Formats: sequence, C-alpha cells, structure tokens
Amino acid sequence: MNCFSFSLLFWKRGSSSAAQSTEAIDISSIQNVNLYTYEELLTATEGFSPANKIGEGGFGSVYKGRLRNGSLAAIKVLSSESRQGVNEFLTEIKVITNIEHENLVKLYGCCVEGNHRILVYGYLENNSLAQTLIGRSSIHFNWHTRQNICIGVARGLAFLHDEVQPHIIHRDIKASNILLDKDLQPKISDFGLAKLIAPNLTHISTLVAGTFGYVAPEYAIRNQVTRKSDVYSFGVLLLEVISGRCNTNRRLPAEERYLIIRAWDLFERGELESLVDVSLGRNFNIEEARRFCKIGLLCIQDNLQLRPSMSTVHDMLIGKTDVNEEKMTKPDLIFQFVEAKDQGKQKSRAEVEDTSLLPGSAKQDDSSSSETASSFATMTFTSIYDRSN
Ligand SMILES: Nc1ncnc2c1ncn2[C@@H]1O[C@H](COP(=O)(O)OP(=O)(O)OP(=O)(O)O)[C@@H](O)[C@H]1O
Ligand SMILES: [Mg+2]
Repeated sequence: MNCFSFSLLFWKRGSSSAAQSTEAIDISSIQNVNLYTYEELLTATEGFSPANKIGEGGFGSVYKGRLRNGSLAAIKVLSSESRQGVNEFLTEIKVITNIEHENLVKLYGCCVEGNHRILVYGYLENNSLAQTLIGRSSIHFNWHTRQNICIGVARGLAFLHDEVQPHIIHRDIKASNILLDKDLQPKISDFGLAKLIAPNLTHISTLVAGTFGYVAPEYAIRNQVTRKSDVYSFGVLLLEVISGRCNTNRRLPAEERYLIIRAWDLFERGELESLVDVSLGRNFNIEEARRFCKIGLLCIQDNLQLRPSMSTVHDMLIGKTDVNEEKMTKPDLIFQFVEAKDQGKQKSRAEVEDTSLLPGSAKQDDSSSSETASSFATMTFTSIYDRSN
C-alpha cells in the first residue's frame, strides 16, 4: 500500500489495457488516497475466494479480507463495465476518502491497476439492515436500537447534504446500504459511488427487485436527482426500520403489500402505532412511534418541495423540532400506481405528451395536468416495477 502526499506525474504500469497503461496519473489529485496493489488484495481475500465473498450488488462483488496491517476490510470489486478513466476515478475517490463521520463507512483506499477498480472499506461486523433487521438474523432490534439507527442515518445523510462541500447526494439509500458495527451503530455505505460509474451506465440495482420502492417519483420519472430524492428514500427506510419489513411484500394481503400505502392508511385512521414491528410486543413508546412514522410520511410526499431537509428530519427525530402534520400530503402516485396495476391498465407513453407536469412542478395544481402527469407516473412506475416481477 502506498500513501501519496506529494505532487508529480507518473505513468501507470502493468496494465492489461493498452489505452489505460499509458494513462498518466496526476498524483497531485490523489493526495492522502491509499493505493493498494492488486497483489495485496489478492492475498487479503485468498485469491478472491468464493468463501470470502460477502455480497454482490449493482457495482460488483464484495469480499471480506485481512489487510497487511491486520485490519479487516470489505473489498468491493467494481464490475468491468466501469471503464471510467483512472484520473476521473481517483478524483472521486479522493472526495470520498476525505469524508469522515461516525455514521459513514470509512473508505480505506483503492486499487486502480490495469482495468481493476477496487474499493477497500472498513469492515462492519453486523452486516446490513437488509440482512439483519429486514432479513433473517438472530439480532433483536429493540425500540431504542431502531430509534438510534434512524437518527444515526439521518445524521450521516444531513452531513453529506449540508456539511460536505460540494454536497453529496447518495442516490441509493436503502436497507442494504446501511451497515451496522459491532454495537449496532449505523453507517451509510456507498456514498459518492454514483459518480464512479461511467455516465452511459445506469446503476442497475436501483431498478431491480425490491429496491425500486425507495426511488422518489421525480427520480423514477424524470431522472431528477436532488437532496430531496435522498429524503424520500430515507422516509421509506425509516418506515422499514419501524415496521421491520420490506417496503414491498407481495406475500402479504393486498392492503398491506405496500408499506407506504399501509402507513398512510393507518395515519388516516389514527392508528399509526399498528405499523410497529409486532416482534416488539408492547415494548415501545407509542407516542414516539407515531412521531417517527409521521416523519417518514413527511419525507415521502410526492412534491419534493414539501419534504423536509435531512437536517430538519434529524432535528424532528431527536425532538428538537416539532413535527407539523397539518400540511402533510398523501403520497398519491403510489396509490395511483397500485390502482392502475390492479386494474391491469397499460397506458401507452404516446398518450402522454407533457412530462413537465409532475409533482413539484409549477403547474401541479392544474387538475387536467396532474391527471396527465399521474398517467405518465403510473406508466413509469409500472415499467420499473415490471422488471421486478
Ligand atoms: N463495509 C462492509 N462491511 C461489511 N459488509 C459489507 C460492507 N460493504 C458491503 N458489505 C456486504 O456486501 C453486500 C453487498 O454490498 P453492495 O454494496 O455491493 O451491494 P448492495 O448494497 O446490496 O447493492 P448496491 O450495489 O446497490 O449498493 C452488502 O449487503 C453487505 O452485506
Ligand atoms: Mg451497497
């Protein structure tokens, strides 16, 4: 492992790609970035052995490994389709490397030999929320732990949104990207990764089974990414943490299948506490549970301008700011999507001309326009959803 802290240019050696082997690396752009050799990572993972593989995501495979200095690492081998140039890659790595926060997974460094693009992260002992809280595990998440997880994730996201300059939008907040350390403290993983993928490639996993439910409507429909799309995803995650279930579960009765719909229905009936994971029995504070659920609902409003910022979300979670439910709006698009799906409606895209009439746009209050918008939204959600069938 080499840690560069001086400025010079050198030529990359030992590449399997002729084009990349002659690409000059501007060392000045990667001060403080730890560069691992491929050989060291090969040794750390025992030749990237399947026995050491701990997961696979949209970016590639993840291996557990022990580094030369003795520390455990999660070694993420980015898929070979990521043909991003070395300098561009390292520039993004530098941004991530310099970000440190108790609720963010630490990036130790990377390997950029030849076509290899490998990220080396600190290893988190208790895996992800997807595998523990929502999946099957022996860990019991009591109410306090769940609160702590929600607050920690909110704190980490608020940090990325407000304190990192320029700010970072995560784009892929979901249960599998929330890792837990030995004390069940949450750490957000994969922040900054969206920029590591070549612009012509979509990060596929956002659109595959189970994960579509985290994507804000304006992101799904117009590919509009803002900090508020992270807020939406956080809202979904929060409801999952409280309820201990995944946002979509087609094995459940129709009225319970979609977490957001279930949460809104319970809110309207004044029974939000029924959303809380039954495994907690009565061991939770009803008022706090209701408050947390309402914060989740504020985050998942269709109109992104109505969603609170992550720092406000954090302050509401810790009770520093009041939760104003007076103006909370129904997440209508998901209701329309499910209704259309149930009725087997398939509207052609040609029917819809004006795609600017979407939640958050100036013309949103025009009823005929919003009908058009929702048709398009329904169609788009449907097309995304259908990939998960
Ligand atoms: N730092 C880490 N420590 C421990 N386990 C990790 C770490 N990073 C990733 N993992 C494990 O590897 C799995 C796969 O991670 P990866 O980020 O590649 O995929 P994902 O989160 O499921 O999807 P996506 O590619 O959209 O992020 C995770 O779910 C987790 O179980
Ligand atoms: Mg991930």
